[in-house]
Amino acid sequence: MTRVNDHYLKLRAGYLFSEIARRVREFQAQHPDAKLIRLGIGDVTRPLPPAAIRAMHEAVDEMARVETFRGYPPETGYDFLVDAIARQDYGERGVKVAPDEIVVSDGSKQDTANIQEIFAPECVVALTDPVYPVYLDSNVMAGRAGSADADGRFDRIVYLPCTAENDFLPRLPDRPVDLIYLCYPNNPTGAVMTRAALKTWVDYARERTAVILYDAAYEGYIRDPDVPHSIYEIEGAREVAIEFRSFSKSAGFTGTRCAFTVVPKELQGRSATGDAVSLHALWVRRQSTKFNGVAYVIQRGAAATYTPEGRKQTKALVDYYMENARIIRQGLEATGLTVHGARNAPYIWVKTPPALDSWGFFDKLLAEAHVVGTPGAGFGPSGEGYFRLTAFGGREQTEEALHRIKTRFRP
Ligand code: MLT
Repeated sequence: MTRVNDHYLKLRAGYLFSEIARRVREFQAQHPDAKLIRLGIGDVTRPLPPAAIRAMHEAVDEMARVETFRGYPPETGYDFLVDAIARQDYGERGVKVAPDEIVVSDGSKQDTANIQEIFAPECVVALTDPVYPVYLDSNVMAGRAGSADADGRFDRIVYLPCTAENDFLPRLPDRPVDLIYLCYPNNPTGAVMTRAALKTWVDYARERTAVILYDAAYEGYIRDPDVPHSIYEIEGAREVAIEFRSFSKSAGFTGTRCAFTVVPKELQGRSATGDAVSLHALWVRRQSTKFNGVAYVIQRGAAATYTPEGRKQTKALVDYYMENARIIRQGLEATGLTVHGARNAPYIWVKTPPALDSWGFFDKLLAEAHVVGTPGAGFGPSGEGYFRLTAFGGREQTEEALHRIKTRFRP
């Protein structure tokens, strides 16, 4: 028999959202009449912005004519998309990002999972706890995490606990690290980092020559003017940070798939011989070997979200979900639960009642209210005692979920 990658055997049996789907399927099989409301995985429910739909229809027509047909897309994305990103996501905020520093992809999940490949296996990784499981699992698969204890803590990972006591904001690591994953607005806690707080991380990374992997997939949900939309708003970040952005949550592209990663030209790592190496060059090399680009039709749809009407429609989508976030937050607070997040993020991070751990809360909510959420423990040991709901449902379902929680659920 052929040897397998033993590091995979160190992973928890199922990816968090697959495990939830499995439990929900089982419950539904036993209770076929239960009308489930799914506020678990952060998957959007509203249709794409009409501007994106129109652009995609036109692009499909182009693919039908020999004069306008397109084959492989450019490796790092079409100019019409990267130019719009550089100008509107960055330039308009006074942030310098050049179009050729942007690498278009089919998702931030993939990019945040794959980025570790361009770093040495011995790099020490720091992760917030709780954390989006992909950052951890991809490093476990690569053999960078070491071995797990009974609580699922890996001995080579530096965990940065984010708890109510520190407002869900991590402290700087107490030992040297090479790679730091930060996600703000945060999945799963919904916490945000102010400019001043993010500056301490950039300064730390500069001092220690660490690299920050900054997942800004939920940037579109920021309301507070003190919260930076990009890590490059912080002076010096271009030399230490890679930023991930996505059209999934802002423009509804979870099924359509389009995202991008910014790797500034100044950002360098070093080789075994101590020579400086461009991380941008390595990432483009990785992507051009293992990925063939995002379809023309999809990139046209993404680019349409930057037109005046596309921007208005995208903002309306985000506003819709943020109204759901408000409904959930206020509804849960009215039941006496302690609620975090939901103000600059589409996630609501709920403290479970004292007698219930997070999977216990999951099971009870499912059984009594037929509402599906995500147990905090699935995001890491510090997520125990918490539960996540998403604001990505339809309005009616969201209101109905809150009604059921208020009337049927006995914490
Ligand atoms: C989540 O529920 O955490 C998100 O859907 C994850 C993702 O975007 O892959």
